[in-house]
Amino acid sequence: MDNRAVGVFDSGLGGLTAVRELRRILPHEKIVFLGDTLRVPYGTRDPETLRQFAEDDLNFLLSKNVKYIVIACGTVSSNVPEEVLDAVPVPVTGVIAPTVAAAVSATKNGIIGAIATPACIGSGAYQRGIAKADPSIKVTAQACPKLVPLIESFGVSELGSEIDEALEEYLAPIRDSGADTLILGCTHYPLIADRIRKVMDRDVTLIDSGAQAARTAKEALEASGTLASRTGSPRHSFYVTSDPERFTSSSGYFLGETLGKATLTTL
Ligand code: DGL
Repeated sequence: MDNRAVGVFDSGLGGLTAVRELRRILPHEKIVFLGDTLRVPYGTRDPETLRQFAEDDLNFLLSKNVKYIVIACGTVSSNVPEEVLDAVPVPVTGVIAPTVAAAVSATKNGIIGAIATPACIGSGAYQRGIAKADPSIKVTAQACPKLVPLIESFGVSELGSEIDEALEEYLAPIRDSGADTLILGCTHYPLIADRIRKVMDRDVTLIDSGAQAARTAKEALEASGTLASRTGSPRHSFYVTSDPERFTSSSGYFLGETLGKATLTTL
């Protein structure tokens, strides 16, 4: 048993989709969440900058004495060098491997689509992971630079035709490929799952990358005997690097519940 918190970070508030799943499957775990809202989006940054941001985010969570870290960001998960992860003294899960495993087992026709940020798709991490798991699977990967800024700045009900136009542009090649499974490779995208389904205009299995990482974290904590005790309700902590008021007003949309205020921090 280990009552220290599980740390979760993202470039912005999209990573709260992983927290939502963690809350559902591990209700006794205390969570420390960091959203680097000052520097979002990460998805258009170069690998060297992403390495620095990843180190800042990991070090912040380690300073909060976490027992486990979930990188709830496809962009960081796909770009962080192994040596950075090797230096982290607690176990770390990113979104790529759990998401690849879920997509490979979900597809029936062997055609998978993947959407994510430019840095994530550009890294080739999803494409390589799928090819390694099953070289016969066809993958259509699409970078979606417009989505994170749009999702970060609006509540879903306020998202207008701009997002549908962007989705039509990004999803048309995947629709045409015949994919029966679509990786939401960025943790912001589950928030627009309904719109994605509509534009795909077919029955596709959507793979939520943040939720997959959360499930992997659960398995790892169970396997290592480091789950928290099942008593009391945990007090979570939320940190952002800008605009804590916006967290208060929009975290319900990202989390599906209201869990209190965020504290402003620097990295
Ligand atoms: N949620 C992040 C991801 O999964 C968004 C990255 C960004 O800030 O562009 O990639």
